[in-house]
Amino acid sequence: MIEIRTDSVEETVDIGTKLGSLLEKGDIICLSGNLGTGKTAFTNGIAAALGIEGYITSPTFTIVNEYKGRLPLYHFDVYRIADPEEMFEIGFEEYTDGNGVVVIEWPEQIQDILPAERIWVEIKKDLAAGVDTRIITIEFKGKKYSEYEKHWKG
Ligand SMILES: Nc1ncnc2c1ncn2[C@@H]1O[C@H](COP(=O)(O)OP(=O)(O)OP(=O)(O)O)[C@@H](O)[C@H]1O
Ligand SMILES: [Mg+2]
Repeated sequence: MIEIRTDSVEETVDIGTKLGSLLEKGDIICLSGNLGTGKTAFTNGIAAALGIEGYITSPTFTIVNEYKGRLPLYHFDVYRIADPEEMFEIGFEEYTDGNGVVVIEWPEQIQDILPAERIWVEIKKDLAAGVDTRIITIEFKGKKYSEYEKHWKG
């Protein structure tokens, strides 16, 4: 497990970019954390690493937003999902078996249908350290990602 502290939104974006540079097609990144902790900021970093231009916002009225880059980015926000079945209706499996990178905000909402192999990122506020401080942990779960932590550490 990797643990990083950031003290600004820019630093969180940079951590997302560092992770994004390691990603390959079919990778699944789950972004766990309370409202306003920085999941979308982190996704912006991933997007930058994939060569996607412009600022990314959370998909509010749709469940998924798609972007074209070095690899396509499929950005899910499943906060409003009531039943994981809705995910199959929009073709979740085609996304996870597809040619791009899948990022999921609020992954706990669809815990039961998440692939066992996944990158699990948790972002927490550390108010004692400062209003802009976040503790980010990254866990690479499964054989698919066995080399990633080594690559992260260079
Ligand atoms: N260290 C930090 N890392 C990330 N964001 C930070 C940090 N410090 C302050 N912020 C602020 O926190 C907010 C994070 O917003 P963001 O939309 O990324 O959160 P989110 O986790 O995606 O929220 P939501 O659950 O509503 O989707 C931004 O306003 C950002 O400027
Ligand atoms: Mg968000």
